[in-house]
Formats: sequence, structure tokens, C-alpha cells
Amino acid sequence: MSEHFAKKIYFRHKVETMKKSVLITIGVCIAIFSLQAFTTYDRPEWKNLHVLPQDISKDGLDSVMHSFTRSLGVKCGYCHARSDDGKGLNFPSDAKPEKQIARKMMEMCIDINKNHFVQIEEAMDKSMVPPSDTTASSYMLKYVTCYTCHHGSPHPDNKPPMEPEQGMGQAPQPK
Ligand code: HEC
Ligand code: HEC
Repeated sequence: MSEHFAKKIYFRHKVETMKKSVLITIGVCIAIFSLQAFTTYDRPEWKNLHVLPQDISKDGLDSVMHSFTRSLGVKCGYCHARSDDGKGLNFPSDAKPEKQIARKMMEMCIDINKNHFVQIEEAMDKSMVPPSDTTASSYMLKYVTCYTCHHGSPHPDNKPPMEPEQGMGQAPQPK
């Protein structure tokens, strides 16, 4: 074996070992990052929840908040005040009256569903009963929900539409 050839093999071996250690380092970094992402994700620290459970997951809270925006046809800033620095929203703040009204509405929905609907569940149309979830706040998203009244507006209609005028929409009578 020429000295030149032996050097070449040695060099190749060195490159392979380096590649391996780089891959291992990347692997370890990914593992640490995902572990960290998972733990912070699983234990969010909510600052000002009075109706929703303290241990609600980020996904759980997001789905409640999105049900609000879709039910009322509004954006997050309808209930949540701006941050002091004007950048983004201060979610824990109770400065906007809309947020406090929303909390009352949440309590109202829980009360309606828990104390009025559940007792007549047996007699009800079963197609209305979603899979059972036992957390108190889940009652808010059963039977009577924000959407039941709000239907995409912050100010739900409280008057039925007018009866169509008599005779309107009738086919002309043959003479
Ligand atoms: C109809 C009003 C309303 C809308 C719209 C709304 N929220 Fe909320 N949000 C609330 C209320 C009320 C609470 C407090 C609930 C409680 O006390 O359990 C809350 C709490 C939160 C919190 C928890 C803050 C903390 O640490 O205490 C976050 C985060 C949040 N909302 C994000 C959002 C996002 C993001 C949107 C838009 C997608 C949104 N909200 C839209 C009413 C609203
Ligand atoms: C039983 C019917 C009903 C249900 C259910 C209901 N609301 Fe309301 N809500 C109303 C009525 C009526 C008003 C007064 C509207 C007005 O000012 O014209 C109102 C007002 C509000 C307001 C204040 C609007 C404003 O700017 O003055 C917010 C915010 C609100 N509701 C949020 C909610 C949320 C969030 C839910 C679900 C947790 C909900 N509501 C469920 C009937 C309902």
C-alpha cells in the first residue's frame, strides 16, 4: 500500500466520523427543542382565568376563543385590550367591558346548559347531544352556545322578522 493511498483512506475515515458526530449533535438538539416545546405547550401559565379551568391546554383555550370570534363575527381585539406599548393585545387584561360581558355570557351559557338542558337531555332530540365531556366549561359549548343567539353578530336580533305583506309574492290571479 503506498503511503499516499493510506493517507487517503485515513482522511476518508476522518470525514465519516465528523459527519456522524455532526448528525448526532443535530439529533440531540432537535430532541431537546421538541421536548422543551412540548413541556411549555402542555403547561401554559394563564394569568387571569375565572371561568375556564386553570389547566386548560393552549389548544383548548384557542378553540374556545375562536368559537367566540366566529359566533360574534368579531376579532380578538373586540374583547381584548391593546398592550400598553400599543403592540398587539394584552390578553390577561380586563380593561375592556366587552371581555367582562363575555365572562358573564360564559357563566350564563354554563348555567343554561348545566341546569336547564341536562335535566331534559333524555327527552331531547339525541342528534343535539355532542360526545360527553365532563369539564364545567365544556357546558358552554353544548346546546345553547354563543352562536345560538349571536349568529355572527355582537348584537343579536331580538325581534322576529316581519311577516311578509299580505298578497306579496303571490302569483297574479287569472281574470
Ligand atoms: C367575546 C370576547 C372574546 C373574544 C372575541 C376573544 N376573547 Fe380571549 N378571552 C375572553 C375572556 C372572557 C377571557 C377570560 C376567560 C376566563 O375568565 O375564564 C379570555 C381569555 C383569553 C386568554 C387568556 C389570558 C390569560 O392569561 O388570562 C387568551 C390568551 C385569549 N383570551 C386569547 C384570545 C385570542 C387569541 C382571541 C382571538 C382569536 C380571543 N381571545 C378572542 C374573551 C374573548
Ligand atoms: C341567550 C342568548 C345569548 C347567548 C347564549 C349569548 N349571548 Fe352574548 N348577548 C346576548 C344579548 C341579547 C346581548 C346584548 C346585545 C346588544 O347589546 O344589543 C349580548 C351581548 C354580548 C356582548 C356585548 C356586545 C356589546 O358590544 O355590547 C358580548 C361581548 C357577548 N354577548 C358575548 C357572548 C359570548 C362570548 C357568548 C357565549 C359564551 C354569548 N355572548 C352568549 C345574548 C346572548
